[in-house]
Order: sequence, then C-alpha cells, then structure tokens
Amino acid sequence: MDNTLEEAKTILKKYNQEHLLNRFEQLEENKQKELLNQILNIDFDLINNLYTNTKKKIVNNNDKIEPMEYLDKYKLYDDYKYYENIGKSSIRNKKLAAVTMAGGQGTRLGHNGPKGTYDIGLLSHKSLFELLSDSLKEESKKYEVTIPWFIMTSKENNEETLEFFEKNKYFGYQKDKNIFFFIQGELPMVDTEGKILIGEDGLIKQAADGHGGIYESLVKSGMTEKMRQLGIEWVFIGGVDNCLVKMVDPVLMGIAIDKEVTVACKSIVKANPHEKVGVFCKRNGKPSVIEYSEISDDMAEAVDENGELLYGESHILCNLFNINAIERMGKTPLPYHSAFKKAKFIDEKGNLVVPDSPNSYKFEAFLFDAFGEVDDMAILRVKREEEFAPVKNSDKDGIDCPSTARELYEKFYNLK
Ligand code: UD1
Repeated sequence: MDNTLEEAKTILKKYNQEHLLNRFEQLEENKQKELLNQILNIDFDLINNLYTNTKKKIVNNNDKIEPMEYLDKYKLYDDYKYYENIGKSSIRNKKLAAVTMAGGQGTRLGHNGPKGTYDIGLLSHKSLFELLSDSLKEESKKYEVTIPWFIMTSKENNEETLEFFEKNKYFGYQKDKNIFFFIQGELPMVDTEGKILIGEDGLIKQAADGHGGIYESLVKSGMTEKMRQLGIEWVFIGGVDNCLVKMVDPVLMGIAIDKEVTVACKSIVKANPHEKVGVFCKRNGKPSVIEYSEISDDMAEAVDENGELLYGESHILCNLFNINAIERMGKTPLPYHSAFKKAKFIDEKGNLVVPDSPNSYKFEAFLFDAFGEVDDMAILRVKREEEFAPVKNSDKDGIDCPSTARELYEKFYNLK
C-alpha cells in the first residue's frame, strides 16, 4: 500500500487536491484501499477542465438552430398500417429489446431510494418498476415473445435495485436470461473552488455521470454483445420516471426500418413555452435536443405563422436506436453539462457539513448529445395523454408529480 499511497500523493499534489488524504489515517484499512483506488482511477485533467468550464460564461455560439421535421402518429392515414405491419413483424421476430434508465434517485420526489421503487399511490401500490414491467409483459404477450429488459442502475442504487427485483421475483422475468442489469459511470463532485468533495463514508464523493454514458456502459458491460446473441437489432431506451412510457411501438419501429434511420424518437407537443422538457431541433443540419435549462426565452417562445411553437416538439426520453448506432455512439465521448447542487460532505476538520443551498458541481452527459452523430433520424409526434406521465417532483410542486402521474395513469387504463 505504501507505494500506492506515495503515487496517490504525487497525483494529488500535481492537481492541488491534497486535502483528499487529510483523514486517511483515521480510515479503516479497506476504506483506505478504496480511497487510494479512487484517486488512481480519477481523470483529474477531465475534472479540472469541467470545473474551469463552470466559470466560463455560456456564450451564444454560432450554431445554426432550426426546427426539426416530424411525423404525427395520428396523421399518417394509410401509412399507419403500413409502418405498423413492418414493426409488428420485426417485434415478432424478436428484434426488439427495452432499456430502462434507472440510475437516478428520487431526490426531487423526496423518496429515499431508487426512483423505480417509488409507489405513485395507485390502489395497487405498484412501484414504477412494476408498472413498467406490466406494460412490457402485456406487449410481449401480444406478439408471443418475451421482450428482453435491460436496466441501467448507478453505483449509488445498484444494490438496492437488485434487492428490490429479487424480493419481487423479477416480476416474472428471469435474471440473466431475459432481464439484465448494468451500472452507469460516475464522476467526482467539486466545490466552488474546484476541490473534490469527501463524502460521509470518508471516500471521494461521486455522482452518477448522466445518462449520456449509457452507450459506453451498454458496450463495456457486455450488454450489446448479449443483445447480439439474442438477435436484437432495435433497442428502445426510456426513463424510469414516466409511468406511461410505451416501450413497444410497432409504428415507431416500422418508420425507423422503412426510412432506414438509425434513431427514431417520440415527441409530444410542448404544453407551454416554459415546460421543463428538452425540445428537438436541427443544429448545424444535424438532429439535436436543446435542454430546458439551456434554451433562451426568445427561442422557447418563438412561434410560426400559425401561432404554434417553433420549437414545440418535446423530447420525452422515448428513443429507439439501431444496435449499430449504440455501438458507434459508445465510442464517441460526449460533452458534460454541469449542475449546481446541494451535497453533504466532510470538511477538513472531519465535520459533516449539510448545506441548505447548492454548494457543489455535478457533471452529467446527456444521451441526446449523441444525436449529432447520426445523419438522420425520425421523430414521431404522439399523444401526451397516451405516453407521458412523468413523476419528477413531489406533490407540493403540483406538476409532474405523483398525483398528476397517477391521474393520467388511471385515466389511460380506465381504472376509475
Ligand atoms: C429529462 C430530459 C428532458 C426531457 C424530460 C422528459 C435529461 C437531461 N433531460 O429531464 O430532455 O424532456 O426528461 O421527462 O434527461 N437518469 C439516469 N442516470 C443519470 C441521470 C438520469 O439513469 O445519471 C435517468 C433517471 O432515472 C430518469 C431519466 O434518466 O429516468 C431522466 O433524468 P432526469 O435527470 O430526471 O431528467 P429531467 O430533468 O427530468
């Protein structure tokens, strides 16, 4: 361990992060080893760059942004059946897999645990995971197949997620046969001076690095290889926090196959210019999403000659990828976005600090930043009431919260 300790000290000196070993002596031996291991594996140059970027003003760059064309699912007329038949035959031929991104905790919801374990208060008291599994099983039945389900967890919630599935007998799925779990990456959090934080466990405080790492994680964890063994060609990737997510959509698949695009995404009309959703656009001629935290008011409010929002096709994290595109995207590093968050940490004197306002940066890559890698993609506008019931905030916020999601879910399934 002595050599490793010396090596770690040299690295930390170079990057001005020596405080990370301040309380090394007080740690138990296994924690000491873990901390050293973290230090040797962190890309300090990357963290330095990311921190420096938080100090730079976001300048309006010269990207050419234009609205993106889309198809409306309910205005396809005769083409509807045509696309649907192509999609149905592909699903029957076991070409589709579903991936659920469940790396997030339910922090905004006030839920202490993996977001997927959250009960939105239906009479059945089913968790989000169970609601998603119900819909996937229902669809599988229609096509007489079992659509394999891949679940992305984070280091923070992997163990708890696995325990939850184990306790619930994988909702009828068979582990490593038709349900698979993989863990997304994470990055250290830094304070406003660029110093990496130490968490309550005495180790470096890391946070999930956003769902942009999903492509790389799917490849590195061997999941794409598994998909290939199963003969999968199309992969639907969706979030865990939309209880109406429609993971199996033959029309969407048929469009992707017929139009020979490698990515096909669903959109819904933005409810109002400032709804907290990303919107599709073309950036320098390539498909892209402008996130709600990054769009200017002018752009959010711009309307066309009919009074409709120019950038009104909302990204609802319902995206279908060809497996080749996933493998290609897994090789391309994505940019990171920073978010200023509240994070507990241990200070230099060993005291736990619980901030009541944001104190540190978290770095995340977004899955849609990879869309620029593809030449073309299809967008299918679907109906909000059929496909989008997000559970993001707590009920006191009154929007995208358990009570609104519950209402939408009950209405859609005629439960009341
Ligand atoms: C997200 C989208 C936004 C979209 C909206 C629709 C991003 C950055 N933005 O916003 O464009 O309009 O949903 O509801 O995603 N997750 C992980 N690992 C992570 C981060 C997130 O698995 O490291 C998962 C979450 O569990 C969740 C989903 O990704 O299922 C969305 O994440 P969240 O950070 O809550 O995104 P939003 O801000 O709601």
